[in-house]
Amino acid sequence: MKILLTGAQGQVGSALRPLLESLGPVTALGRDALDLSDSEAIRATVRAHRPQVIINAAAYTAVDRAETEPDLARAVNGIAPGVLAEAAGHLDGALIHYSTDYVFDGSAPRPYREDDAPHPLGVYGQSKWLGEQAVLASGTPALIFRTSWVYGLHGANFLKTMLRLGCERDLLRVVHDQWGAPTWAGSIAQATVAILRQAEASGDVTGFIRQHRGVYHMTNGGATTWCDFARAIFAHRPECTARVEPIPASEYPSPVRRPANSRLDNHKLAEQFQCALPSWQEALAQCLAGLPPAAKP
Ligand SMILES: NC(=O)c1ccc[n+]([C@@H]2O[C@H](COP(=O)([O-])OP(=O)(O)OC[C@H]3O[C@@H](n4cnc5c(N)ncnc54)[C@H](OP(=O)(O)O)[C@@H]3O)[C@@H](O)[C@H]2O)c1
Repeated sequence: MKILLTGAQGQVGSALRPLLESLGPVTALGRDALDLSDSEAIRATVRAHRPQVIINAAAYTAVDRAETEPDLARAVNGIAPGVLAEAAGHLDGALIHYSTDYVFDGSAPRPYREDDAPHPLGVYGQSKWLGEQAVLASGTPALIFRTSWVYGLHGANFLKTMLRLGCERDLLRVVHDQWGAPTWAGSIAQATVAILRQAEASGDVTGFIRQHRGVYHMTNGGATTWCDFARAIFAHRPECTARVEPIPASEYPSPVRRPANSRLDNHKLAEQFQCALPSWQEALAQCLAGLPPAAKP
């Protein structure tokens, strides 16, 4: 399986890279090697490498900044995924793409299913939804994995911020009225590779992805709030002595409203691929096992 990975230096991209190497030759490109805001560069790169599977782990993920850079967010998240999909289709290949809980407005009283109507609250969510539609419209065999609250030891994320501030401050005020599943980049990478192994075992990778094409929710199991996620992180790290005070999202100023309910229903992934990611608590423990005892990241 010849693979082209974009966003190779991001949280999910860097977790994927070492695992993908067991499947076949991997060309792993960061933004320096392939800028997804340049459609012609995407086409030329895909033509040059001729991958069987493109995995698009790149995205414009700065949710607040997207409000002031909407054109760039739409180019990277809304247009590029469709260009990647078309380029893969020309080679009779397939695309794996990632999307987000932020395509929803969070008003549902239950976990969101894949066929619930998106209604993004900001530019980032709108751009990611556009990207999903562009991939599906291309007709190229593609799997779109929507995930949520991604963290890991690599990159900038809530876990890293809490590990730092938990040592520096006495008190942290953390939002208690947004619900979702913190999802470890390592779990996303493991699940993606497990599904690609099924494709490989079928003897027809593109055919397998064509047969299963569509949107899937892919998060760690269970749900929590940012506040209880912070407390769970600190429970693993005795050096994080900050006290956590719950606050409503309305007291945390930000240019974009976040969904109050980010929970995604993972049943479709389990049914189609017999694939279930570990609970968020288990994944957090697995992730933190990668840290030396009582060390700051
Ligand atoms: N992070 C989350 O909480 C979250 C939640 C739900 C869904 N997701 C989705 O999960 C996927 C993976 O996200 P992640 O958390 O791994 O994101 P990430 O850590 O921000 O990584 C994204 C990567 O994309 C690269 N990138 C940005 N603009 C680019 C461009 N114009 N051309 C090429 N590469 C570019 C970034 O490079 P630079 O570092 O140089 O900018 C970065 O390496 C994305 O589809 C994202 O939308 C993420």
